[in-house]
Amino acid sequence: MNFIYKYTSIIFCFSLIVFSTSCKQSEELNEQKVGVEIESKIDSIISVLTLEEKVAMCHAQSKFSTKGVERLGIPEIWMADGPHGVRAEISWDAWDYAGWTNDSITAFPALTCLASSFNPKLAGEFGFSLGEEARYRKKDVLLGPGVNIYRTPMNGRNFEYMGEDPYLASTMVVPYIKGVQKNGVAACVKHYALNNQEHWRDKVNVEVSDRALHEIYLPAFKAAVTEANVWALMGAYNKFRGQYTTHHELLTNKILKGDWKYDGVVISDWSSAHTTMEAAMNGLDLEMGTGTDGLGTTTSNHYDHYYLANPFLKKLKSGEIPVSVVDDKVRRILRLMHRTNMSSNRPIGRANNVEHHEVARKVATEGIVLLKNENNFFPIKDDKNLTIAVIGENATRSMTLGGGSSELKAKFEISPLQGLKDRYKNATIVHAMGYGSGASVYDQVLPSPYNADSLRVEAIKVAKTADIVLFVGGLTKSHLQDSEGNLDREQFDLPFGQIELLNDIKALNKKVGFILVTGNAVDMSWLNQVEGVIQTWYLGSMAGHAIADIVSGDVNPSGKLPFSFPKKLEDNAAVSFGKTSYPGVDLNQEYKEDILVGYRWYDTKNIEPQYAFGYGMSYTNFELSNISANQKKSTITVTCDVKNTGDFEGAEVVQVYVGKSDSKVKRAIKELKGFSKVNLKNGETKSVTISIPVEKLAFYDESISDWNVEKGNYEIHVGNASNNISDKIEISIK
Ligand code: BGC
Repeated sequence: MNFIYKYTSIIFCFSLIVFSTSCKQSEELNEQKVGVEIESKIDSIISVLTLEEKVAMCHAQSKFSTKGVERLGIPEIWMADGPHGVRAEISWDAWDYAGWTNDSITAFPALTCLASSFNPKLAGEFGFSLGEEARYRKKDVLLGPGVNIYRTPMNGRNFEYMGEDPYLASTMVVPYIKGVQKNGVAACVKHYALNNQEHWRDKVNVEVSDRALHEIYLPAFKAAVTEANVWALMGAYNKFRGQYTTHHELLTNKILKGDWKYDGVVISDWSSAHTTMEAAMNGLDLEMGTGTDGLGTTTSNHYDHYYLANPFLKKLKSGEIPVSVVDDKVRRILRLMHRTNMSSNRPIGRANNVEHHEVARKVATEGIVLLKNENNFFPIKDDKNLTIAVIGENATRSMTLGGGSSELKAKFEISPLQGLKDRYKNATIVHAMGYGSGASVYDQVLPSPYNADSLRVEAIKVAKTADIVLFVGGLTKSHLQDSEGNLDREQFDLPFGQIELLNDIKALNKKVGFILVTGNAVDMSWLNQVEGVIQTWYLGSMAGHAIADIVSGDVNPSGKLPFSFPKKLEDNAAVSFGKTSYPGVDLNQEYKEDILVGYRWYDTKNIEPQYAFGYGMSYTNFELSNISANQKKSTITVTCDVKNTGDFEGAEVVQVYVGKSDSKVKRAIKELKGFSKVNLKNGETKSVTISIPVEKLAFYDESISDWNVEKGNYEIHVGNASNNISDKIEISIK
């Protein structure tokens, strides 16, 4: 017996060498489709695996790894969060950090910021750099990006996602994934699907129409699969139409693996698998993070009790589940290995290098959005006669810590205060904390250890004597703020007495600008108290430098909002329908706004948002002219001239929205179908061309369960924000 084992093992080591060599000859890693030859090698491996070995490959062996098959040289798979940086090492079998000294990384900006850049090329650089860091940390699967649609401003996890528009999210996610995977590291797009809130995330049942599902909530996942060839995908916690989404007949078997022909691995979210039968039969390939009712403390290996472990093996042995089911899962896992840890030509990766820091800074500066700039408050010159008071806890608070699984152990994090101090060498910078929010502890709100009155008095004193005040406030990444957990935000307005403090400061100093650090829209009824507002998101390691780049004018802001800011929370579509729609009643929830998410709602219902999707100012001015649109065969070509009419070099995002007013079905007034970011010197004009395939005008026709392009007239809206359209052109589709 021993002899046979050894013999088989030699043959397989040999076949793995052949297997790896053929990888070497293949095209760029990202383009790798698994060819017939590899598929037959995978088949031959499957044919010698025992049932026990196959089952062992389908579930976790630790918090973030799965078993290989030692006797055949099949490696383990190692995973790490997350979307904007590689998470610190977690202990083998507990949620604590492992305490390593060599696992700190570059913290990249959170994905709302990347989306705001409206720069797909930059998304590619982001993905590639992040993939290099994951590779350096010896990870095979990076648990990101997240592309759940921004449905309400209350979702604590919005900062991890790419905004409210499916076209924007799709366009940004494809180069990101390709970038990561060029390193031989699988991206794992998440959370599939309809995980649009944290509140009750592990049990809420979502009801949504087929149309909204296909037009709003699935496109970014579809693009990840069909355009980026993503190698892994993570299920979500919630239910959809009564079934858990991680093992869902319609979402996984029919749409993902059937219609989209996904050939990668479906991984559960940590603890999102619920039954052996559904996990086995509805497309879950790899079960991770399942809580096992405390078995972890009473049995030697609680991973054996996972739904896809012993209970699965038992059903396979009894014939209740056919062996072809486990074979398909193992085939997908081996395919992922072929693309990652069994590929011999993957680069070795690198972390914390200058180039990555520069990418992080570029994404941060391009993603920052200038919202208001009265009396040219920004940019602020570095003048020796100037005293700038930097007020607010967010000027010094770490924003890479907290937030849940996307928390990072950054090698360094430049705070806004530090960034401003480094940049302003002549002006005097003074600082006061102003308010205190308390420590960030997972699932808990700790009271602030500071005396609120003394903080306030000190801040007022500092602000009074300064020429200019920069109020650095917003949200934090603690529980009930911008954070993962089982609850969403509890309030739409700014917490911790920030507004009271702002009012007090304003009474003594008229020159106040707000640096708003959030991953979400917040109430802005304080807007007329300030002359300027910069929306900075969570910017990672280079946060302070990027903020100083924009505040000083070294970089001209060009970010555009990836989601709308409502004037009041009730204006938000989902919230406006009451609790049945958000956050749900008795664990059930109906997406009553249907396809009218974000700007689609504000536009169609004629509600003026505080700030519209696609909006963002610059220190210069742009003019769009000579706008035209033509259709030839299956493509609509939109052209337009963009002129920089101001004094600074800068970039503008030309946005093309399409509407159909005489449609036979309900439609939004307009939907984003194309955009292009163009950089212009002052006085310069460039012509921009945006092509839109006619098939992208289709709506999801529930009567035929398929996409349908209606004939007739369409309106092409061209502008630089969803609420600032320069021209509207009609075209006819025959
Ligand atoms: C999160 C995932 C994450 C996983 C592992 C879950 O709670 O929802 O996004 O990848 O934990 O940390």
